[in-house]
Formats: sequence, structure tokens, C-alpha cells
Amino acid sequence: MSVNTSLPKLYSAEILHPEALDFLAGKVELTGPNRRPLEGEDISPYLKDAEGLINPYFTVNASFLEMAPRLRVVSNVSVGYNNLDVEELKKRGILATHTPGVMSTSVADLILCLMTACCRRAAELDKAVRCGEWTNDTFLKWFGTDISGAKLGILGCGRIGRVLAKKAKAGFDMDVAYFNRHRDLEAEETLGIRFETRDELLRSSDFVVVLTPLNAETWHSIGAREFDLMKEDAVFINTARGSLVDEAELIRALKEGKIRAAGLDCLEQEPTYPENELLKMRNVIVTPHIGSSTYATRKAMVMMACRAAVEALYGGKPSCTIPEMK
Ligand code: DGY
Repeated sequence: MSVNTSLPKLYSAEILHPEALDFLAGKVELTGPNRRPLEGEDISPYLKDAEGLINPYFTVNASFLEMAPRLRVVSNVSVGYNNLDVEELKKRGILATHTPGVMSTSVADLILCLMTACCRRAAELDKAVRCGEWTNDTFLKWFGTDISGAKLGILGCGRIGRVLAKKAKAGFDMDVAYFNRHRDLEAEETLGIRFETRDELLRSSDFVVVLTPLNAETWHSIGAREFDLMKEDAVFINTARGSLVDEAELIRALKEGKIRAAGLDCLEQEPTYPENELLKMRNVIVTPHIGSSTYATRKAMVMMACRAAVEALYGGKPSCTIPEMK
């Protein structure tokens, strides 16, 4: 691939759909192939001259940055950016952007899907039927619980939480409470949701959904104490980051009946491993970190990341710059 033009050079480690390629044409020179790196592939040749990086979710730290001495912007194709060493990027004067907003609806939809699936035991009963366990009286014993009218507690009510709250209220007539470090009076007023202390919310919610960003402060912030506080009938949902939860304590809570079920789109180790205890539990549903994985949403995320990279490469400061660099 030639690197002799005067256009800024961009390496995209994410696949670019035709619309994204059209948008980038004439604005940047791509330094690598249009595909995700292959298992074990050396990407340093693509990074050596790159000034911009479209980053699916690589860990970008000091050693990664050694491969990219000319980098000026890392455009993360995700809302979470715990994969970035923000201090190291700042030290090197590299801007970081992410993709907030465009995936909120898809993630909120998945949360509702996990909530309903958990309370009506959809995965467990689908398996039972496939194993020939459907008999004439199963409808009298395979009971679930209702989502409608139940209480939803959101820990970390930002963009996704707000969309979720709206859908939960409109679609399921749920009572919605939230906990944030700072109260969101506007959300309370417009969405009709209620602020509660963290403990109050954990104690009284039928569904506990964690949506906080992962950082040093929130790592394992859902552990033994939190599961002990929850109702025995509570359903716990995590579509944010696996390491927000102390997984060993989640397993213990499920085994000891401290909570009823869990719907998990994120685990501490991703991809997971077959021996993971959670995969053996009937009252656990695991999806493979697909909260944003709809065609339209991934496309919108890639477009947003491309626009941000181009804006930064031409000297601008995109509105989706990560908060620490604004
Ligand atoms: C996000 O955008 O943070 C999703 O979890 C995908 O990584």
C-alpha cells in the first residue's frame, strides 16, 4: 500500500462498510486492509505511519503506542473506553473519541430482552422443550414472574439508562428508580423516574441493572455486599462491563439463592471459557457482548468514529471526544 500522498494516514482495525469508505475517500489514506486483524497478525506495519486509528476495542497503552509514533487520534468504536490508557494518551498529546448515544436504543432493547427472558425463563424452558420435557402439565409448573408493574433499579443512569427507563415505563408500566453520584433532576422530571440511595435501590428493586462505566472506582463494585442487599427474587442484569461485577460473588449469590436470576451480556473474561460456572446455571442467560450488535447501530457507530477521526486529523475537536479530554 502506498504511503506517498499528503492525506492524513488512518488505520482502521474495524471493518468499514461502503458508506464509511465513501466518506473517507479523498480525506484520508488508509494504511491497512479493510478487515479486522487476523488472529496473531502483526499490525505494526499498518500503525507505523498512522496518524489516526479507528479502534474496535484494542487495549491502547504505552506498549501499543510504541507501534504508532505518529498517532494523533484514537477513535474508539464503542461508548466504553476502559480499553484506553487515558493518561498515557494525554501524555503523548493523542486525542481519544468514543461513540456515545448512537447505541443507546440497541443496548436498552437488549436489556429488556434479558429482563423478560429471565423472568419468563425463556432460555431454560427452550432447552427443556428441546430435551423432550414438554408434557401436558408443564404450564402448571414452569412459572415465571411478571415484568409489568415491577420495579426497575438502574445503577448509573446515563444515556442508555434514560432510554431504558423510558421504554420500561411506556412498555411495561414499570416503577423506575435510579442511583447516580449526582442527581439528574431533568431526567426525574421528564421521565418520571425517582432517585434512591444505592442501598435503598438494591434492597427494593425487582430488576437491578448496572450501567456504570468501568474504571478503578467501579471495578468489582457489585460484590457480596450488593448481592446480600438484593431481594431473593431479584433479577440482575449486566450489559456494561464484566469487571463491574465480582463474578465469584455473583456465582455464590445465584447458588445460594440470594438472587433469582441473572442476564449477562458481559463477563469478566471475554470470550468466556466452557468451565465457567455461570454457563451451567439454569437461571442465567449469557449473550456474547452484543448490546450494540445490530446492523444499523454498528454502522452508525463506525460512521461516528470515522467522522470524529477525520475531524481530529484536520485539527478539530470532535464533540464525542472523551470527557477527560474535553
Ligand atoms: C460499547 O460501546 O462500549 C459496547 O460495549 C461495545 O464495546
